[in-house]
Amino acid sequence: MFLKRFCRCVALGKKWIKEHVRDTYYKSAKKEGYRSRAAYKLIQIQKKFKILRPGVSVLDLCCAPGSWLQVIRRFVGPSGFIVGVDIEKMPKLKDIIFIQADIFSEDIIEKVVNISGKKNFDVVLSDCSPKLSGIKDLDNFRQISLAERSLEIAHALLDTHGVFVSKLFQGAEFKKYTQRVKETFQKVFFYKPPASRQQSPEIYVIAKRLRMTYTSS
Ligand SMILES: C[S@@+](CC[C@H](N)C(=O)[O-])C[C@H]1O[C@@H](n2cnc3c(N)ncnc32)[C@H](O)[C@@H]1O
Repeated sequence: MFLKRFCRCVALGKKWIKEHVRDTYYKSAKKEGYRSRAAYKLIQIQKKFKILRPGVSVLDLCCAPGSWLQVIRRFVGPSGFIVGVDIEKMPKLKDIIFIQADIFSEDIIEKVVNISGKKNFDVVLSDCSPKLSGIKDLDNFRQISLAERSLEIAHALLDTHGVFVSKLFQGAEFKKYTQRVKETFQKVFFYKPPASRQQSPEIYVIAKRLRMTYTSS
C-alpha cells in the first residue's frame, strides 16, 4: 500500500517537472533572466491595462522570489520607487526596498511607511498565494484572506487616483470579495493572463481610483 502510494507520488512529481520544464514561459523566464515565470503575468496585465508608468511608486505585496519587482523596474524606470514585502527571504535587487514581513502582522502598514519613508503609493500589487495544502476549499479561503489583507493595505497606502491589482482564487468567498472591491474602487476589471495556467483557479482583479474609505465587515 505504502509502496504503491510512494510510486504514484514519484510519478506525479516527474510529470510535474516534465511539464514545468517544457513550459514556454518557464523557458523564456530562464532566457530573459526573470526569477520566475510569474513575470509574464504582470507583463500581460501591463500590456492590457497600462498600470505602470515611468517614475511612479509601487508597493508589491508577496513579492518573492522577485520577478514582478524586475518587471516593475523595467516599466517604472530608474526614477520609479519600489518597495516589496514578503514573509520569505529574497535575494537583493538593486535600488528596491525589501521588507521581510508577514502581511497579516498588525504593524505592517507602519513598517512600510517607516522603512520606505512613503505614505502613499501610485500602485499596490498583490500576487499572494498561501502554501497549498491540496484541499481546495482551504486553499481558496487562505488565498482570499491574503487578498483581503492586501486590499486593507491598499486602502491605507494607495493614492486616491492609484491602481490596485490582486491575485484571487475563484472559490466560495470570491463574489463577496469582488463586491467589496467594486464598492471601494470606481473602475474594476477581471483578467486571467495567458501565462496563468488554465487549471489554476487564479484570476487578477485590476481596480482603479478609490471611491471611499474602507470599512471591514
Ligand atoms: C506566487 S508567489 C509571488 C511571486 C512574485 N509575484 C514573483 O513574481 O516573484 C506568492 C508569495 O506569497 C508569499 N506569501 C504568502 N503568505 C504571505 C504572508 N502572510 N505575508 C507575506 N507574504 C506571503 C509567499 O512567500 C510567496 O513568495
